[in-house]
Amino acid sequence: MKIILSILALGLFYATVESKESPPKVQVYSRNPGNFGEKNVLICHVSGFHPPDISIQLLKNGKEIPNSNQTDLAFEQGWQFNLTKSVFFTPAAEEEYSCRVRHLKNLKTYTWEADM
Ligand SMILES: *[C@@H]1O[C@H](CO)[C@@H](O)[C@H](O)[C@H]1NC(C)=O
Ligand SMILES: *[C@@H]1O[C@H](CO)[C@@H](O)[C@H](O)[C@H]1NC(C)=O
Repeated sequence: MKIILSILALGLFYATVESKESPPKVQVYSRNPGNFGEKNVLICHVSGFHPPDISIQLLKNGKEIPNSNQTDLAFEQGWQFNLTKSVFFTPAAEEEYSCRVRHLKNLKTYTWEADM
């Protein structure tokens, strides 16, 4: 009887943890208006996710841009987290800039739009 109860409790525990799983909201933008040939900062803001098993990459034509900065994992309300990653860049018309986010086993790429 005791064993059955603890299995039940364990199942309940995992069900509760799982229900708190939530996918990230991702915004890719630049600090200044995206004018080609002008120095700018590419920013990827990821919020509202749980659990905090995440990695963020800023990409230029699919390759990671070096020397980026990332904020510490910030704790929002209700078990959710947010993170911001940024890097200096000078946008060029032929290049594609994007933010790749892996949350748990889900990998998604968000492309920066110059006219935002
Ligand atoms: C990110 O988390 C911090 C710390 O809880 C909070 O102050 C901030 O408002 C959050 N930012 C966004 C954009 O959700
Ligand atoms: C990254 O951090 C360094 C050191 O704090 C700072 O000098 C640099 O301006 C930051 N880069 C960006 C894109 O904010």
